[in-house]
Amino acid sequence: MVDNHTSTGTGGLGEILVSSRSLAEYQAMFALTEDDLGRRILDCPGGAAGFTAEVSGRGGDVTACDIAYFDDGLERVAATAVAEADRGNRYIRERADAYRWTFFADPDDHQRARHRSAQQFVAHTRTSPQHYIPARLPALPFPDNSFDLVLSSHLLFSYADDLDYDFHLQAITELTRVAVAEVRLFPLMPVGSSVRYPRLEELMDELSRWGIRSRIMKVDYEFQIGGDEMLVCRIGR
Ligand SMILES: C[S@@+](CC[C@H](N)C(=O)[O-])C[C@H]1O[C@@H](n2cnc3c(N)ncnc32)[C@H](O)[C@@H]1O
Repeated sequence: MVDNHTSTGTGGLGEILVSSRSLAEYQAMFALTEDDLGRRILDCPGGAAGFTAEVSGRGGDVTACDIAYFDDGLERVAATAVAEADRGNRYIRERADAYRWTFFADPDDHQRARHRSAQQFVAHTRTSPQHYIPARLPALPFPDNSFDLVLSSHLLFSYADDLDYDFHLQAITELTRVAVAEVRLFPLMPVGSSVRYPRLEELMDELSRWGIRSRIMKVDYEFQIGGDEMLVCRIGR
């Protein structure tokens, strides 16, 4: 198991960001349909994303889990969510040319959207903390096949300098264990990079030897330039 709680970070970002993406961003990154949103979903890592709050508000069934929720961490994450959104926004402003400004109009729009999601996260953790479960990949505290759909954004592949190849392999295997149907991971490139995780093909081959079928799918979302692909994993050859 990798203890990555205090990470050195990649691409100049520093410690792994506890970020706040919205339902709209998740829909675009993971090509989520209305049917998908009606399934039992696990968001791992959930960070301070507004996704769980927003889908729950529409009557959906989402659980978020994250290493940062351990030991009263949920309150800490809520207290720092807006500051973390600003840290991420500063990073992006300093490198605005490395991003595609289509989903977000400009860095101010990005900051507003992340603040909104952080605030939705904070409000939801106060009323419904049971949706936020402490968990440390590559081991999850859920029985096999607990969720129809598992989503994982901006940890695996994003922090490839911190998380080694074996961590990726074990984490994806574990995410697949708790999924009935499918695991979707986004993006496939490290923070600060514009090329795919270099060992992706090797990883996909190894997953296949472990009985996990994976394919790369283009999605209609690109913020990090070149980052418009997700990995879809399913049990079975
Ligand atoms: C960049 S955030 C992504 C959050 C959310 N998916 C989003 O897109 O807004 C990365 C998250 O990974 C969490 N994390 C780091 N290592 C982890 C691990 N081993 N197991 C579970 N979560 C982890 C961090 O605490 C952080 O909240």
